Amino acid sequence: MTHFAAASKKAIPITALVKAQLGKWLKSQNKHLQNWVSSTGFKASPGELCLIAAGDGRLSKVLVGVSEHANLWDCGNLSKSLPEGVYKFERAKSSNIEKWALGWALGAYSFSRYKKNAKNKTRKLARLALPKECDRAFLECAVEATYLARDLINTPAGDMAPAQLAKAAKALATKHKAKFSVIVGDDLLKKNYPAIHAVGRAVETKDQAPRLIDIRWGKPGAPKLTLVGKGVCFDTGGLDLKSAGGMKLMKKDMGGSANVLGLAHMIMAAKLPVRLRVLIPAVENSVSGNAMRPLDVIPSRNGKTIEIGNTDAEGRVILADALTEAAREKPDLIIDFATLTGAARVALGTELPALFTNDDKFANAIAKAGASQQDSLWRLPLWPGYRKMVDGKTADLTNAPEGGYAGAITAALFLQEFVEPKTNWAHIDLMAWNLSNKPGRPEGGEAMAIRAVFQTLKQKYAS
Ligand code: BES
Ligand code: ZN
Ligand code: ZN
Repeated sequence: MTHFAAASKKAIPITALVKAQLGKWLKSQNKHLQNWVSSTGFKASPGELCLIAAGDGRLSKVLVGVSEHANLWDCGNLSKSLPEGVYKFERAKSSNIEKWALGWALGAYSFSRYKKNAKNKTRKLARLALPKECDRAFLECAVEATYLARDLINTPAGDMAPAQLAKAAKALATKHKAKFSVIVGDDLLKKNYPAIHAVGRAVETKDQAPRLIDIRWGKPGAPKLTLVGKGVCFDTGGLDLKSAGGMKLMKKDMGGSANVLGLAHMIMAAKLPVRLRVLIPAVENSVSGNAMRPLDVIPSRNGKTIEIGNTDAEGRVILADALTEAAREKPDLIIDFATLTGAARVALGTELPALFTNDDKFANAIAKAGASQQDSLWRLPLWPGYRKMVDGKTADLTNAPEGGYAGAITAALFLQEFVEPKTNWAHIDLMAWNLSNKPGRPEGGEAMAIRAVFQTLKQKYAS
């Protein structure tokens, strides 16, 4: 990890200042500094910078404006906007430094795999020296998890087919000495994953063949935790083809699986006392002569039949089989992550993932964890009154209820049909993408809700 440096006396000090305290702080400084700060117009607005030179002209100090309550994103631009070098926060609480440090490192990300210009790739960023009171292990692992998710999402679908997604999952499993297996192509039919096969069968190359990725890790006897991630490597919509605008970002439709791999990394790196299983149905939702058609009826692993109301509602169809397999082992908790519906984005926007769960305790815990991690989710109801909307006309269920009202809820209710009623389950419908650059959150693929979930799991299992 290159964003953080060891504590060092030589590091350039950064003074973090809250706007309301700037005046008082300035009074304790010399006239020279007071004049400089006032002539630069520095007001200590959150994220605002003021560079200060020593008598010899070298950079000797940095002022940065911060919010009254330490905010992750106040320092989200610093790695890229400060000159190359090592910095440290002066006279600040280590709990505040931890927040600023996380924002600093998350803001240092860039996706340069396809940039030819080597200079762009190696622009040296400002690094932060961490005091030893900071939880460096957590910070590094949260940053690695986020970078992993972003890299997987940002990689174009041409280089991130189901085979490559499986390869990335295998690399993670190997790193943590976890067991890895995968069921590919027609073997999905032999092993009774007909819904995953039906969605993913319309492909040309071996790399694109549908598959179910399976990682297992942890000690026998520990509580079972199963993570499921939607891995649609590209969502064209299928025969119900998306519009150009609607299709453009659909390399991110494996964002659920990317987040699940990031979260799995955090869990394994922290050695949480759980028996972890990760299930990723990985497919392409493509168009060809053998693609599933509107009103086709598809069998599923748990026996319920699915009528295809819309080939673009493919995520819930592959998750049906993966959740059935997850639930078969009666784990202590199942959590799925999926870029499942546009409707969840209409309801909550792009930055706030929707949470659905039958576990009120988990919902309350994650609300608190989300706020403390600045990684919030918002609970929506598994409203039983809408359950009838997912009934099929010629099959047990439809994947696309008519009208489209409450689309995020009906998608969640569809998934619930494949989870045992007594199993604790949470479903996270997320965007996994930043539409524009914001401090700490560059445009492109994004990890969402994994810090909140990790914190919740740590509290639940590690005590
Ligand atoms: N992957 C999309 C959902 C999506 C779109 C998530 C944009 C985030 C941003 C999903 O497969 C889809 O197309 N869902 C349809 C379902 C509908 C046809 C019932 C949707 O939400 O419109
Ligand atoms: Zn779709
Ligand atoms: Zn999709």
